[in-house]
Amino acid sequence: MSLFVTFEGGEGSGKSSALKLLDERLRREGYETVLTREPGGTPIAEQIRNVILDKANTKMDSRTEALLYAASRRQHLVEKVWPALKEGKLVLCDRYLDSSLAYQGGARGLGIDNVLNVNLFATEGTYPDLTLLFDIEPEIGLARIASNASREVNRLDLEKIEFHRGVRKTFLELAARYPDRYVIIDASKTLEEVVESAYHSIAARLK
Ligand code: TYD
Repeated sequence: MSLFVTFEGGEGSGKSSALKLLDERLRREGYETVLTREPGGTPIAEQIRNVILDKANTKMDSRTEALLYAASRRQHLVEKVWPALKEGKLVLCDRYLDSSLAYQGGARGLGIDNVLNVNLFATEGTYPDLTLLFDIEPEIGLARIASNASREVNRLDLEKIEFHRGVRKTFLELAARYPDRYVIIDASKTLEEVVESAYHSIAARLK
């Protein structure tokens, strides 16, 4: 049974660590998973990612950024996500459409519906079956990143705190707008607890 699960949240929410553990657990249980990420996940999409996240690209216009994310998303869908879903796999994707709605649409001020329209063109209306929102106060998330020196700090990490508050607010609005596919996970809890609740949300959809 194919299932498209996306993992969303602000910086330092721990979603990438949780995602790795969840993937291992689901595989041990015999599910065929595909663990992937956005922007990126395929060579062309990774090249687009490098342009977007390059710290030197300080002149990048917000709409250019939104279009590049959408372009990277489309390439990743065509080359990786759609084929995997067709083969009945469980796709676990670190960020997807909702990141564009929250970062570019909400926090960057382009408007959720404007960014959604661009993304509906890019994705041909492919929404996730389940979106796990790793919700955490930006202050806590950013403090986690600061204390984890091994993690690379990217251009968007450096945005000021209001930007991150805007991201969180928009994600919570999206959760209210799409209650059927959204599950909010309290990411201030321990990694074990977070993985446990994420696991149960996925397992419930696999029955
Ligand atoms: P990444 O290093 O993958 O961050 P994280 O570990 O937090 O997922 O960098 C991805 C950055 O891109 C992150 O700051 C969120 C941002 N982003 C958008 O602004 N819009 C998007 O559509 C996507 C997919 C990501």
